[in-house]
Amino acid sequence: MVKSSKLKSVYDKSTVEDQRKIYKNWAETYDAETLGEFGWMGFKPAAKEFAKRILDKDARILDAGCGTGLSGIALTEQGFTNIHGKDLSPEMLAQAKKTGVYNSLSEMDLTNPILVEEPYDAIFSCGVFGFGPPYPKHLHYLIDILNPKGHAVITVNGKGWVETNWPEELEKAVQQDALKVEETLDIEYLENEDIKGKLLIFRA
Ligand SMILES: C[S@@+](CC[C@H](N)C(=O)[O-])C[C@H]1O[C@@H](n2cnc3c(N)ncnc32)[C@H](O)[C@@H]1O
Repeated sequence: MVKSSKLKSVYDKSTVEDQRKIYKNWAETYDAETLGEFGWMGFKPAAKEFAKRILDKDARILDAGCGTGLSGIALTEQGFTNIHGKDLSPEMLAQAKKTGVYNSLSEMDLTNPILVEEPYDAIFSCGVFGFGPPYPKHLHYLIDILNPKGHAVITVNGKGWVETNWPEELEKAVQQDALKVEETLDIEYLENEDIKGKLLIFRA
């Protein structure tokens, strides 16, 4: 049972348009509500695990679903210097811009092929996957824009993992899209909601 009615409404939304509306209206209060009320902290352990594996601090990184920039700030705290943020929501991107940690920011919908000028050395995506969309079948759009030796580090909401059948859907995506899952870890995620996260590490 999710304690917060706000989170419940986010998890219940099932279309990209729903997500766009939710984050349009949430952008200004997202940080205060998620950090304060929900105990949102998944980006911290995720960024630490990312830094253990991505050793080049100047690696060209995509923060996929960067939101207001909490994930970009966590990557900067780990020493990364070349971070590019993309998100569905222009209002969330406007907040991310204020952080000053991104080398570039632009719109993207993870449920479609992603057009990029140059591939990325590594991808970080935190707080985006779980209830969906995007779903496991969309993961390959991210893997497609990695350099051949690149890695993608992606969190999945642990409640969504169980309730929306992630293990089975992920296995289907692994088979269909030849995804290479290197590791799956458990991380702290939404502290006040007692929701843990999964951290998936893919190689290109
Ligand atoms: C819970 S927030 C996480 C933001 C940030 N990464 C963090 O750690 O706080 C989820 C973000 O994913 C974005 N998002 C949702 N669906 C998306 C999609 N289909 N493509 C790209 N971004 C999406 C939302 O706009 C929102 O900014």
